Amino acid sequence: MTIQICSLLFWALFCSTAMLLAIFLKHRKGCGKSDGKLPPGEMGLPWIGETIEFYRSQRDNQLFEEFVQPRITKYGKIFKTRLMGSPTIIVNGAEANRFFLSNEFKLVVSSWPTASVQLMGINSIMEKQGEKHRCLRGIIATSLGPAGLEILVPKICDSVQLYLDKNWNVREEISLYHSTKALTFTIVLECLLGLNFEPGTLNTFERVLEGVFAPPISFPGSKFSRAKKARREIKEMLIKVVREKRKKMESGLGGDEGMLFSQLVSGMIRGEISEEEVVDNVVLLVFAAHDTTSFAIAMTFKMLAEHPDCHSLLLQEHDDIMNKRRSGENLTMEDTKKMKYTWQVARESMRLFPPIFGSFRKAIADIEYEGFTIPKGWKVLWTTYGTHYNEEYFKDPLTFNPRRFEEPIPPYAYLPFGGGPRLCAGNQLAKLNILIFIHYVVTRYNWSLLCPGEQITMDPLPFPSHGMPIKVSLKSS
Ligand code: HEM
Ligand SMILES: *[C@@H]1O[C@H](CO)[C@@H](O)[C@H](O)[C@H]1NC(C)=O
Ligand SMILES: *[C@@H]1O[C@H](CO)[C@@H](O)[C@H](O)[C@H]1NC(C)=O
Repeated sequence: MTIQICSLLFWALFCSTAMLLAIFLKHRKGCGKSDGKLPPGEMGLPWIGETIEFYRSQRDNQLFEEFVQPRITKYGKIFKTRLMGSPTIIVNGAEANRFFLSNEFKLVVSSWPTASVQLMGINSIMEKQGEKHRCLRGIIATSLGPAGLEILVPKICDSVQLYLDKNWNVREEISLYHSTKALTFTIVLECLLGLNFEPGTLNTFERVLEGVFAPPISFPGSKFSRAKKARREIKEMLIKVVREKRKKMESGLGGDEGMLFSQLVSGMIRGEISEEEVVDNVVLLVFAAHDTTSFAIAMTFKMLAEHPDCHSLLLQEHDDIMNKRRSGENLTMEDTKKMKYTWQVARESMRLFPPIFGSFRKAIADIEYEGFTIPKGWKVLWTTYGTHYNEEYFKDPLTFNPRRFEEPIPPYAYLPFGGGPRLCAGNQLAKLNILIFIHYVVTRYNWSLLCPGEQITMDPLPFPSHGMPIKVSLKSS
C-alpha cells in the first residue's frame, strides 16, 4: 500500500517535472535560443541592434552595397540582424524571393511600420489578408486589367500632353522628378479613379506621404503630426465625395463605370466594403503609384542621357509610331505595344535602380528554410538588389544593357514589382504611364541633364536629391 502511494507520488513528481521542463524549453525556443538553428549574423545591442548602420547606409543610397552585400560575403545569402527592435532575417536570391513572396498569408504576412499603417489607414489593401485581400484586390484589378487600361490610354495621353504644353513649353529649366510626380498624381486621381481635385490637393497628399516612413512621434511640427493632420483633411474631403457619389449612383446616375472610384463605391453599395475601406484605398493608391513611378521615369531618363546610342534607338521607335498618326492624335494600346525597346530600357533602368528596395514580412509560424529556423514573430526582408545585382542571374550586373531583356529572365530574379499574391496591382498602369510619358517627351523636346551625376538619396524611397533638373526646348517641327 505505502509502496503503491510512493510510486504514485514518484510518477506525479516525475511527470510534472517533465512538463515544466518541456514548458521551459518551449519558452526558451520562443526567445529564439532553440535547437532549431538560426541563420548566422549579428543581433547587436538590445532593441537598437544594427539599426544605425542600416539607416546610415540607406541615407547614402548604399543599403545594398554597404549593409547587405558585406553581410552576404560574411554570412551567406540568409542572415539575421535586429532593426528597430525587431529581430529580422534578410534573405537574398531568386529561390528565397519565390519562397517568401509566394507564401504570403501562409507563412508570412506583409509588415509595415507603425507610421505607414496609421497614415494609409488600417483598411487599406496592404493591411488586408486572405479572403478580404482577395475581395479588395478584385475590385481594384477590374480597372487595372486589360479592358480598363484600354480606356485609360487616351486619357493618360491627354493628361501628359496638357501638362507638357502648360509647363514645359513656357520654361527652359524643368525639374523632371517634380513633373513626373505631379503627372502621376493626376493620372492616378483623375484618369484611374475618375476624381477631380483642386490644385492644392497634391500638396496635402505629399504632406501625408512625407510622414509614411517618419518616426511615429506626435509633437507639434513633427513630420508625423503634419502628415496626420493632412491625412484628416483628405479623409474629410474624400468622405464628402464618397457620399455624393453613392447618392448619385443609387439614383442611377453613375455615369463613368469602369472608373476605379465608381468600382469602389459600387462595392460599398453592394455591402462588400465599407466607407473607410474606400477612403483608405484611395490614399494607398496615390502612395503606391506616386514616388515609385516618378523614380522609374527619372532613372530611365538618366540612363538615356548617359547612353546616347540607346537614346537614338529609342527615339527611332517613337518617331516611327508618331509618323503613323496625325499630330495631336492620342496613342492607342496598339502603339504602346510597339514600344518594345523603350520598355527594355525602362526595365533595365528599374533593374539597376529599383524604386522599391525590397519589403518586410513577418513570420506567422516557425519557418524552416534552407536548414535554418525563422521563429514566429520575426521579420523577413526580401530584396530586389539581391538578385538584380547578382551575376548568377544578370551577366555583368552593373552594366546598363537593355537588350538583356530579349532573353527570358529566370523567375523571381527580376522583381521591381514584387511577386506572389501581393504583386504590384498597378504594374501595367505604371508601364503605360512610363511609356506614354517618354513618347511625348522624346518626340517633342530636345532635353539634357543639368546636373549629371546627381546624387540619389533614400528616405527610404529613393529620389534624385536635386529633383533632376533638365534643360528643354521644343523641337522645331
Ligand atoms: C514603377 C512603378 C511601381 C513600382 C516599382 C511598384 C512596386 C510595387 C511593389 C514592389 C509592390 C509589392 C510590395 C510588397 O510585396 O510588399 C507593390 C504593391 C502594390 N502596388 Fe505598386 N509599384 C509601382 C506602381 C504602382 C501603381 C501605378 C499603382 C496603382 C495605381 C500601384 C499599386 C500597388 C498596390 C495596390 C500594391 C499592393 C498590392 C497588394 O498588397 O495586393 N503600384 N508595388
Ligand atoms: C484624346 O483623349 C482625350 C480623353 O479621352 C479626349 O478628350 C481627346 O479629345 C482625345 N484627343 C484627340 C485628338 O482625339
Ligand atoms: C535638337 O537637337 C538636335 C541634335 O542635338 C539638333 O540637331 C537640333 O537642331 C536641335 N533642335 C532644336 C530646336 O534645338
